Amino acid sequence: MRTQVAIIGAGPSGLLLGQLLHKAGIDNIVVERQSGDYVLSRIRAGVLEQITMDLLEQAGVAQRAHAEGLPHHGIELLFKGERHRIDMHKLTGGKQVMVYGQTEVTRDLMDARAAAGLSTVYEASQVSLHDFDGTQPRVRYVKDGVTHEIECDFIAGCDGYHGVSRASVPAGSIHEYEKVYPFGWLGVLADVPPVSEELIYANTSRGFALCSMRSHTRSRYYLQVPSEDKVENWTDALFWEELARRLDPAARERLVTGPSLEMSIAPLRSFVAEPMRFGRLFLAGDAAHIVPPTGAKGLNLAASDVGYLSGALIEHYREHSAAGIDHYSARCLSRIWKAERFSWWFTSLMHRFPETGEFGQKIQEAELDYLIHSEAASTSLAENYVGLPMVHSN
Ligand code: APR
Ligand code: PHB
Repeated sequence: MRTQVAIIGAGPSGLLLGQLLHKAGIDNIVVERQSGDYVLSRIRAGVLEQITMDLLEQAGVAQRAHAEGLPHHGIELLFKGERHRIDMHKLTGGKQVMVYGQTEVTRDLMDARAAAGLSTVYEASQVSLHDFDGTQPRVRYVKDGVTHEIECDFIAGCDGYHGVSRASVPAGSIHEYEKVYPFGWLGVLADVPPVSEELIYANTSRGFALCSMRSHTRSRYYLQVPSEDKVENWTDALFWEELARRLDPAARERLVTGPSLEMSIAPLRSFVAEPMRFGRLFLAGDAAHIVPPTGAKGLNLAASDVGYLSGALIEHYREHSAAGIDHYSARCLSRIWKAERFSWWFTSLMHRFPETGEFGQKIQEAELDYLIHSEAASTSLAENYVGLPMVHSN
């Protein structure tokens, strides 16, 4: 088999890249370890920056996000028992975010890929990458007991944090930066109306809570829990009880509870691997970086990586220019580190840290108080939340 770009991983990074390349007439094959149904069963965040919406549009898959997504102009910060609104729309000169689940983005991309008749190999095992330091890279995998090989011009490693792509790079050529937080998020998805029109980020003495949503009838809620906590320790009733305790009285009153459709615990981590290009192998999305979910930057960073990568590959094929390819890593990392900083800062501001005690809580409350009263501080939050621009210069 031969293709121009072999894409490892059918998460949002791999599928969006495949679609952007296809739109530009660049042939690609996606190789995914899991089944399509498994990929769609993963529940992830659901806040899309305008930049992500623009890329979905460029890929021709934004119709449903526009029709069913919920444009949000603000968020609420809850601390010391009271909610305060940050008007992102006003503070950023008219920007907004779109609340639309990552699962739905993935479904739209899968449907578009199938409709265009593009090839995706699901349930591929023993995926391995070869010769990406030369001019003729290859990807090998086993499907139904048969070994296959793809010859290609480039490999895009879009296979997430646990993927094979980053692991295929010689250890001496890559530097990894990591911070692990001493807590996780217990998430619940339920078919109940959201407690509020906008997202509520809550700092409480019992720990962080987040009220989010997928639609007017489906809610997504999270609670900060200790790292060692297990989902088996929780029941729906315990979850709703603890969430109610972390809300203000008016929200508590409005909270509608119901059976969970999904309940899981995700650890919180900041991680960056540098660089993101090794000869003809490019890393994109979670394969290269992880942010803690506070601020929902994960999917948006994956999208901007893929925006840069598709641009670079289009430049290579159309203009025979290596400029985009050569600058790929530096352009991505400049945006990634800013999102890493923002996600780390927002996480640090909103969570209970076991080691900082009451002093830490007081400092957080002082910063939150400053944040809601200072236009400079709230503008900084707003411009990061709606997404910093993609810069195409070097
Ligand atoms: N071979 C082939 N595919 C693989 C391999 C492998 N060895 N290892 C992992 N994969 C697949 C996974 O099964 C998964 O479907 O790669 C895909 C990676 O998808 P994601 O983990 O969703 O990563 P990405 O597409 O970069 O999306 C980033 O997803 O994890 C969230 O917060 C993150 O929202 C962000 C977004
Ligand atoms: C979500 O809806 O899952 C979500 C929203 C905002 C976040 C994180 C997760 O900051």
